[in-house]
Amino acid sequence: MHDHEVARIFTQNWLPVCRIEQVAEPGDYVTGTLLGNPYVVVRGTDGELRAFHNVCSHHGAEVVNGAGRCKELRCGYHGWTYGLDGMLSRIPGAGRLAGFDPRRLGLTAIAVASWSPLVFLRLAGEPGARDLSGDVQTLRDYLEPPDLARLTWVDRREYAIRCNWKVFVENSLDGGYHVPYVHPRLSGGLAMEGYTTDVLPRTVVQTCAANGDDDRLGKEVTYGWLFPNFFVNRYGTMVDTNIVLPMTHDTCVVIFDWFHDPDSQPVAGLEAAIAESDEVQRQDVLVCESVQRGLASIAYDRGRYSPVFESAVHAFHSLLWEELT
Ligand SMILES: [Fe+2]
Repeated sequence: MHDHEVARIFTQNWLPVCRIEQVAEPGDYVTGTLLGNPYVVVRGTDGELRAFHNVCSHHGAEVVNGAGRCKELRCGYHGWTYGLDGMLSRIPGAGRLAGFDPRRLGLTAIAVASWSPLVFLRLAGEPGARDLSGDVQTLRDYLEPPDLARLTWVDRREYAIRCNWKVFVENSLDGGYHVPYVHPRLSGGLAMEGYTTDVLPRTVVQTCAANGDDDRLGKEVTYGWLFPNFFVNRYGTMVDTNIVLPMTHDTCVVIFDWFHDPDSQPVAGLEAAIAESDEVQRQDVLVCESVQRGLASIAYDRGRYSPVFESAVHAFHSLLWEELT
């Protein structure tokens, strides 16, 4: 099922990987591994944003590492060199490239698009079949204005969780059902009786008014989700994004990025706001790992949806069913 989900869901959909400001200038590049696939996102000398499989066409080594600024992409193994457009430009020791067609030995392109402040990749699937701007339109309507592109990035943390990726997504889509039990402090700052869950095409938006007791939350919190693995949460002067990536059938990694409005900060400061957000995440990790252990028990077969809270969990499962079958 893990391989099937990766092939049918994760490689076919837009997945966020890095921030647009990391590849703002010509030559800027960022590398990483997405579902076992090394990639490089690079800004070309022509200003165009491109992404490639970061795999040398010679011997398969990762061509570049880390992030930075460069004039060309030179493999550290045998020196095969590619332009920022992915075309092979030099092969040391190959004479005049006799018998080679450099156009056929370039880096393999990956579909890339951005929705501020993030860059998204789509590893496979029909070219042009799925437009990122169409996918994020509903989220954009809920979260902008103000323009998310003007936010300043603060911090990134990665949480390795001993649960299937769907357990984490379900937890975040349960309409606030778990919030009073798992997050007493967060719950104390929200007017939970007014919590709403909007199920939209490939998107869920949950909103709840704050009761004024917690400055970090501002007037209202908005939790957005895009199928399959992306959350963007707005509260007070801050936004955080969460990327959920399956590792194995019973482990996943959740990557948090925090951003803030450059013109205003939470009264208690950014560090305190992130510490509070981190506390909420740690509470979710505990409960998700508990669920994973319970799912593996011989006593558990299937659960029931709460008709009051869990419409979004059902919508998530319906999308899974659609894309997996
Ligand atoms: Fe939670």
